[in-house]
Amino acid sequence: MAGTMQPVYERILMDAAQIAAVVDSLAERIDRSYAACEPLLALVVLEGARRFADDLLSRMQHPVEPVFISTSSYHGGTHSAGIVKIVIPPALGKAIGGRHILLIDDIYDTGLTLSSLAEQIKQFAPASLKTCVLLEKKTPHKKPLRVDFLGFTVEDTFVVGYGLDYRNQYRDLPFIAALRKDLTTG
Ligand code: XMP
Repeated sequence: MAGTMQPVYERILMDAAQIAAVVDSLAERIDRSYAACEPLLALVVLEGARRFADDLLSRMQHPVEPVFISTSSYHGGTHSAGIVKIVIPPALGKAIGGRHILLIDDIYDTGLTLSSLAEQIKQFAPASLKTCVLLEKKTPHKKPLRVDFLGFTVEDTFVVGYGLDYRNQYRDLPFIAALRKDLTTG
């Protein structure tokens, strides 16, 4: 109907206060687990994890060097195409050798992105590798993996907000919400 704007989301799953509390506690846990170690190299998976990582790293006390890497398995839709493009350039590979690596991603869904990245990282012989993920979807993961630091578990639905997008939109929402089913491409 002209003049009325329906929200793009069905319901809010995590509001801004819940997200802030979880990010705080993740930052504390990560700080504690690396207390005696050298500075961390944080590999942040773009674009979705940028906002989460910015908040998380700014709350941590431990020295962290962030590096941003790009992968894409959604190609603008809402169902994983199962194709994971990994971009770990040789120069970054060299920087990984002997360092403590924290791999930061927004969502653990099929697990293809994280497991593929983890395999790549291990080939560069890091001193250690841990994973930090904001959301784990309740879905049978195609590639199960251990998440060392997990924010929330969410139902198997497409989510937007707090850096997560649908076709590059809705990243700016301050909360995480389930996208309206009629907006998804199936
Ligand atoms: P996989 O399936 O490889 O997921 O574990 C990898 C990436 O897919 C994106 N993803 C989503 N992005 N809302 C989004 O905005 C979602 O509900 C969603 N589910 C998966 C995300 O970038 C993740 O890193």
